[in-house]
Amino acid sequence: MLSYQHAYHAGNLADLHKHALLAWMLDYLTAKPKPLSYLETHAGRGLYDLSGAESAKTGEARAGITRALAEGWLPEDHPLNQALDQIRTLHGPAAYAGSPLIARYFLRPEDNAHLAELHPAEHAALAQVAGFAHLHAQDGFQMANALCPPTPRRGLLLIDPSYEVKADYESVPRHIAKLSGKWNVGVIALWYPILTDNRQAPMVRALMRDHPEALLSEVRFPPARPGHGMVGSGMFVINPPYGLEAEAARLATLYAGL
Ligand SMILES: C[S@@+](CC[C@H](N)C(=O)[O-])C[C@H]1O[C@@H](n2cnc3c(N)ncnc32)[C@H](O)[C@@H]1O
Repeated sequence: MLSYQHAYHAGNLADLHKHALLAWMLDYLTAKPKPLSYLETHAGRGLYDLSGAESAKTGEARAGITRALAEGWLPEDHPLNQALDQIRTLHGPAAYAGSPLIARYFLRPEDNAHLAELHPAEHAALAQVAGFAHLHAQDGFQMANALCPPTPRRGLLLIDPSYEVKADYESVPRHIAKLSGKWNVGVIALWYPILTDNRQAPMVRALMRDHPEALLSEVRFPPARPGHGMVGSGMFVINPPYGLEAEAARLATLYAGL
């Protein structure tokens, strides 16, 4: 039974961290005239309305993307800024792009995209906006396992679970070890929350033990509400594109000022 709905959290400080790095990587990878594969295990609905009731209820986007744009966190030519500009042009001023529509901005007709989303309502909403991709209504890790190594071999896999069950933290390192073994040239990016009880720490230690060359980008921020468990955002990237480390450092400096 899936209960997580990303609409309450779209555009928050964690999304901003994840989406800034994702857009940066896709911009870099699509600068070369060679086709690539883009895979996502947990896609969400793709398009969010920051003027909607869910977003208003938590206020997380106001403290995230809205504030970041007002304060110039993203330079004019930042890849995420460009993708969001297009989303607002196409879908209105309160629209916010989930990871699939950020990818849509960068991907070219010769690229090959596969997105998994298991929640029936989220999947149906995704189908309305993700005509550029092959959609899978199945477990994202099953999809990735079946497709890896994908064709074309160059490419990126985003793993963005909702961590609804504690077992997710235990199974992620096993899934990633298997996927990276099958697809050793793939850029494999995992998002995870940083929690007050540090529940994510054993998972991160296992990942770094298995993949010591990977990039780890962690940022911290005040909780969205008093007592809220999430106090930071992490991205773990195997085969990080050249220059990603500098973008991660730039973001870390901005978050450190919060
Ligand atoms: C954090 S949200 C995704 C957000 C999205 N990646 C973005 O950045 O815009 C996680 C999504 O995974 C979906 N989900 C949960 N378990 C799943 C599974 N086993 N396989 C595929 N999707 C799943 C949830 O319904 C939810 O929409």
